[in-house]
Amino acid sequence: KRILLVNGPNLNMLGRREPGHYGHQTLNDIVTGLTKSAENHQLSLSHIQSNSEAELIDAIHHTEVDFIIINPAAFTHTSVALRDALLSVSTPFIEVHLSNVHAREAFRHHSYFSDVAVGVICGLGADGYQFALQSAANYLNRAS
Ligand code: DQA
Repeated sequence: KRILLVNGPNLNMLGRREPGHYGHQTLNDIVTGLTKSAENHQLSLSHIQSNSEAELIDAIHHTEVDFIIINPAAFTHTSVALRDALLSVSTPFIEVHLSNVHAREAFRHHSYFSDVAVGVICGLGADGYQFALQSAANYLNRAS
């Protein structure tokens, strides 16, 4: 089965971007670790990171995967369009945030994704992506 990992704007800056919130791992470190874990679960993982809302939407439209793990980053709090893209392909997804968005500014408390996600993980740093992958594997095993 196939999983798409989607990372939104500014996550290409991980490692040097506000490490107090987002840790020291680079996006490359995270993707490499997740690809290994996917292989262990006999899942194939593809990845897109973009700073452009349109590119993320197009990637979701064109992908043919069984599950999506997404950190929409700042689009979490702004993008009805990205939410609608996920709903348009009916692909189950888990929403991940590195930081605990609920412990931060009020504008980060609302997500356009959480109510339509299978689940939400936040505040656990890069581990959150690994937990999401484990959960996706369990979900896909139950579904098959
Ligand atoms: C984030 C939290 C968002 O509020 C923020 O805009 C990000 C990253 C996180 O992973 O903690 O860019 O999604």
